[in-house]
Amino acid sequence: MNNRVPENEEKDVFRGVSRRDFVRYLVAGSALSITALNRMNAAVYQSITSLNQKYIEDESPDGVYWEALSKHFMFQDGFIMMNNGTVGPMPKPVFNTLLKAFKVQATNPYDVYSFIPRKRSEVRAKVAAFLGTSEDNIVLTRNTTEGMNFSANGLDLKEGDEILLSDMEHPGGTHPWNLKRARYGITIKTVPLGLPSKSVEQVVGAFEKAITPKTKAISISQTVFISGLIAPIKELCEMAHKKGVLVIADSAHGIGMLDMNLETMGVDLFATSPYKWLGAPCGVGVFYVKKELQDKLWPTIASSGWDREGTAARFETLGQRADPLIIALGEAIDFQNRIGKHRIEKRIKTMAGYLKRELGRIPGIKLHTPMDPYLSGGLTAFSVEGVDPRKMVDYVREKYNIVIRTIGNPQRGTYGVRVSTHIFVSMKHIDMFLEGVGHLARRKV
Ligand SMILES: Cc1ncc(COP(=O)(O)O)c(C=O)c1O
Repeated sequence: MNNRVPENEEKDVFRGVSRRDFVRYLVAGSALSITALNRMNAAVYQSITSLNQKYIEDESPDGVYWEALSKHFMFQDGFIMMNNGTVGPMPKPVFNTLLKAFKVQATNPYDVYSFIPRKRSEVRAKVAAFLGTSEDNIVLTRNTTEGMNFSANGLDLKEGDEILLSDMEHPGGTHPWNLKRARYGITIKTVPLGLPSKSVEQVVGAFEKAITPKTKAISISQTVFISGLIAPIKELCEMAHKKGVLVIADSAHGIGMLDMNLETMGVDLFATSPYKWLGAPCGVGVFYVKKELQDKLWPTIASSGWDREGTAARFETLGQRADPLIIALGEAIDFQNRIGKHRIEKRIKTMAGYLKRELGRIPGIKLHTPMDPYLSGGLTAFSVEGVDPRKMVDYVREKYNIVIRTIGNPQRGTYGVRVSTHIFVSMKHIDMFLEGVGHLARRKV
């Protein structure tokens, strides 16, 4: 089976439309009226409510509930998305809401500057409630990289001050500190996480050992992109705060994958990208600034309001915004809330657990992700002895139309593939993937 869309066909989407397509779009245009889009969203939510009434959470580890839910995504036929890490899909209601908001810009730009920006505070409140904090602590950014830059750039640090990073940070979490080092002479120390990390104690202990009187902050991925580790941020905060050290979490994949409460977690600064697992469009991010830090962290971008004290809004004075993206973020929260974030995390971890257990039966597998569900989530990374990870990516795409990705670095022994198990993936898809890996492991290509 090969359902892969030829590359030139994908590119055609952006090259323009034929006359026949143009007529088709004109006709379909009426279906894109705001009322029609609202109706479509209401139907999706009605369907999820009915499913929730029919299947209580503990009754639906697999099967009908999730199968029905997956229909609210818009994948091409046969396309199986098992790489949420980079960019995930928008469910239908989010896409509809995005269209609605952009339609306003096309038809009535006045509303874009006079009415739509007011919706931002509604979305901020939704995001805050979703993450278990107050809206005063939430900054709507463009992505995780921006939040990590706001963190590194905004802290007053001088030559000789130390920052601890893990040895598996994403460039978006490393380079803000490299820039800081180049400009101010700070010291960056790297702490090994292990592949896989073994326990909460091992991770926290490694950072504790590295702390010196000069250490000002730990900057660590909560969702480690190379290994799939979910770092124990709460325990790291408990340890670090006793020593007067801040904790900055890069949770690029966290929102929409994990059922989180930032206040319980105790983190100081936290950046996340809702277009990976939450279903928001690309170009909108979330940054959290703990109350106590809001007047200590310098804003990186300044326009009117940067000097207002006592609110994270001072980090969000970025001129005219792409508000449709922000409004769609609010819809993405509504969509997940309708299902329940606890239920979502449970489903994601159930599938990842199954995948890891079954991979363990294949000879030559090295799992890079911990088995412990507290230390792992929807990202599973592994390598197979004698099998080139690029071959694995190509093989499962060609044979099953499953999208995964290579990850890590051969020189550092972290090279392998990474697989995401979000709620639109089924156990059947995982079995297909396992069949493919088993085949390659036996042939060693
Ligand atoms: C752990 C981690 N941090 C940061 C980023 C960068 O995210 P963004 O491009 O949304 O800024 C990624 C991207 O995948 C990531 O995996």
